[in-house]
Amino acid sequence: MSIAPHGGKLINRVAPHGQADELMARAATFKKVAIDDRTTSDLEMIGNGGLSPLEGFMSAADYRAVVRDMHLANGLPWTIPITLGVEPDVADGLNLGEDVALTNGAGDVLAVMTVEEKYTYDKRERCVAVFRTDDEAHPGVAATLNMCDVLLGGPVTLPRPIPHRRFLQYRLSPAETRALFAEKGWDTVVGFQTRNPIHRAHEYLQKCAMEVVDGLMIHPIVGETKSDDIPAEVRMQCYKVLIDNYYPEGRVCVVVNPAAMRYAGPREAIFHAIVRKNYGCTHFIVGRDHAGVGDYYGTYDAQHIFKEFDPAALGITPLFFDHAFWCAKCGNMATTKTCPHGAEDHVFFSGTKVREMLRAGELPPPEFTRSEIAKILLEAAKRAV
Ligand code: ADX
Repeated sequence: MSIAPHGGKLINRVAPHGQADELMARAATFKKVAIDDRTTSDLEMIGNGGLSPLEGFMSAADYRAVVRDMHLANGLPWTIPITLGVEPDVADGLNLGEDVALTNGAGDVLAVMTVEEKYTYDKRERCVAVFRTDDEAHPGVAATLNMCDVLLGGPVTLPRPIPHRRFLQYRLSPAETRALFAEKGWDTVVGFQTRNPIHRAHEYLQKCAMEVVDGLMIHPIVGETKSDDIPAEVRMQCYKVLIDNYYPEGRVCVVVNPAAMRYAGPREAIFHAIVRKNYGCTHFIVGRDHAGVGDYYGTYDAQHIFKEFDPAALGITPLFFDHAFWCAKCGNMATTKTCPHGAEDHVFFSGTKVREMLRAGELPPPEFTRSEIAKILLEAAKRAV
């Protein structure tokens, strides 16, 4: 039996096949509200049920409950606000109860939304609650402070899934991943969040987990990430090479996650787990400084936050991992839970150090990343200059 989606029911806000044209025709008569890429990522996941039980952008009650109490107004755990911001003059031109067409920058209609609420919000309060800081150097804070000043709440309906040109064969909806897991006979599936190539530490975590569950879903973020993160195209290339060479066939799948990164550390870890539950995962890996950036979060804050939630209400089981490294004495990957040697035997590379090496034309060593991955990253770094 598969795991229940968050809130009990997998949401689908994409119109049935036969109704798309009619919805598009109606939308052509509505006022247009352009949304940015981040909001489009959220829209896509509201549409396909990745954000179940949300059926639209958050109402003021949900927004406040999430920011202040990490739950939706109905009491379900939820840690990241899912909101649609517009400028005040745009909001002034919209009536409550009115249907509007949400469009991309080119004016193409992506969805219809019923504007049930318009409300203002305190961006600093949101930053301090969600990111534990209002330091503008934090990428999530910077994105939040840049948001428009009025939020629109209300349900959305997409005439069709958000159109894409990239990664088409990896773009499965939660309904599709659930069907895939059933077809493969996986009762237990561990989800892996990442915005990086899979280095040795990531592989170690995944394979430890694979020893105790039926399948692994690698679920990389392909929505907006910070500009110095490795581009999604390069990462996808890395995942393919790694899986083709080092993972047993039939026990792993790669599915892209259309979401944008928030870099909200602990709160994002809970959010990430809930989303993976909606995709059908029963387990979710949370390692060191999950979804962190800079020094804003303690190494294991993203694990500690799970104590603040009722495990039954979360539903998905987190699998916590300590900091993993290559130990020269052991001659394998380990953590301090399994390795008796000191730091002098442990190989550690920060993301910054790896970026520096690649810029200098050097291959990161095999203790950090497999040579096939190192080569892809070096080629990509050369192309980028
Ligand atoms: S994240 O922003 O998506 O968390 P990343 O892609 O690097 O960044 O991490 C993916 C997952 O692997 C996260 O759960 C993270 O905590 C974990 N992780 C990354 N590196 C390590 C490591 N060396 N040791 C333990 N866990 C790690």
